[in-house]
Amino acid sequence: MMMANSVGRLCFAHKTVLAPMVRVGTLPMRLLALDYGADIVYCEELIDIKMAQCERVVNDVLETVDFVAPDERVMFRTCSKEKGRVVFQMGTADPERALAVAKLVENDVAAVDVNMGCPKEYSTKGGMGSALLSDPEKIEAILSTLVNGISKPVTCKIRILSTLEDTVNLVKRIEKTGVAAIAVHGRMKDERPRHPVHCDYIQAVAESVSIPVIANGGSSDMVKSFEDMEKFREATGASSVMLARAAMWNPSIFRQQGALSVEEVMEEYIRYAVRYDNNPFNTKYCLCQMLRDKVESPFGKRLHAAQTNEEICEVFGMTDFYNKTTAELEARKAALQTNGDQSEHPKLVDDVVTMPVRFERRDYPPQITPKMYLLEWSRKEKLDQPVYETEQRTQDRGFQSTVIMDNKKYRSTLWEKSKKFAEQAAAIVCLRTLGLPEGRIGEEHSGLVNKRKRDDKKCAALDDNESAGRKRHISEVPQEEEEEMICRTKVVNGVCGQTTC
Ligand SMILES: Cc1cc2nc3c(=O)[nH]c(=O)nc-3n(C[C@H](O)[C@H](O)[C@H](O)COP(=O)(O)O)c2cc1C
Repeated sequence: MMMANSVGRLCFAHKTVLAPMVRVGTLPMRLLALDYGADIVYCEELIDIKMAQCERVVNDVLETVDFVAPDERVMFRTCSKEKGRVVFQMGTADPERALAVAKLVENDVAAVDVNMGCPKEYSTKGGMGSALLSDPEKIEAILSTLVNGISKPVTCKIRILSTLEDTVNLVKRIEKTGVAAIAVHGRMKDERPRHPVHCDYIQAVAESVSIPVIANGGSSDMVKSFEDMEKFREATGASSVMLARAAMWNPSIFRQQGALSVEEVMEEYIRYAVRYDNNPFNTKYCLCQMLRDKVESPFGKRLHAAQTNEEICEVFGMTDFYNKTTAELEARKAALQTNGDQSEHPKLVDDVVTMPVRFERRDYPPQITPKMYLLEWSRKEKLDQPVYETEQRTQDRGFQSTVIMDNKKYRSTLWEKSKKFAEQAAAIVCLRTLGLPEGRIGEEHSGLVNKRKRDDKKCAALDDNESAGRKRHISEVPQEEEEEMICRTKVVNGVCGQTTC
């Protein structure tokens, strides 16, 4: 029943689909499902308010695009392997916010879906999920705003209503918004997974609309194998089939040649988890779902005790794979850093020299910062001290600083999570543009920053090894205080304004 992926807009007819699943539908599971034969994969539901705060970051080391929250959590990670086949599902109750998020991810996903089926309180109390089912005007507003606002197909996933007639009336209204397809979970919002799926409702929906209907809800009672998917599709008269639990237990159910053993699948899952630096708790969660009743076994308990992807690999006897893969990633990171230094050509935008750089604290020794280097250089050259101007944007409260040095302006194009980091990033742009050292670990010592600081640094390093008590004492000296010794700081209007140092 499956058709090859057509180039261009994603088509939802005659497809097998990995359902959206919170915590399960992250990148490793989606890639695995695609490898085994799924045509389309939905990501886990992501809430619009959280996504709206994310920044899109190209991760050159992992070769992914990450949507990163202000607290640095990766909310959504995607890569070229799933390009054209990944559907972004969001939880929303607000057309404009939904559109803002859809626009943010639009170029990295194949379609955008709105969850209208989640009966959990955290969803419904915000008017999202299945709460939308009793507010058809809101549904229409959200879906038509999305359909008109983005170039990618828009879909939605619903549960059935308590009568056939109400369900059919609702989907007819939904179809009029211009959505490309509709996924129907054949259960009412109060029904639990143990209740039988209502194939007759899905069938009535399929007969009443002309867009593809994706049948969902068949795991466990109806769909236990690849062949069962086709039976479920026939029983519902739908165009496509979407699987959640059956795929979570063993994603190789999408394999036409027959499912593989869970042990083999778990190993493949771990390969993707390590390769794409998946959150270890998420990795563990998904593996535990695959273990099912074996989760209480001695093996399951060992898995449960693992805290990192490395420890998970140890439990599975995959330490060699872990070491090899992480070494490759580290090598790529190092190569990018070396090349990056050469290829980060400064660009003049208006009258500001810009570069896409970030201040990574771990790249610098304790108590050494690019700002200090710039200040010391300005003193040595008998120039005015650098002046920092910082602005904060409202959508994610991110900061961007411009440093004025010798009547020229320098700025990083990347927004930082704090004013301090934004100023450091601006200082890095200035130093790199001028070809000056910035104090990074491994960089040859220029002698720009005074000896006392270097000695302090040595002390701190010694302390790390020698005495935890003394270490605490030294690390209690906050960075600002340290900088204050060599720079004056003037803050105008709280966080945003001008500082000199
Ligand atoms: C672990 C888990 C997480 C889920 N998360 C979502 C979600 O994020 N969005 C959504 O629309 N449905 C979610 N669902 C519901 C499934 O997508 C699906 O509608 C339901 O499980 C019925 O399909 P099945 O019989 O194939 O399991 C989730 C289900 C499970 C088991």
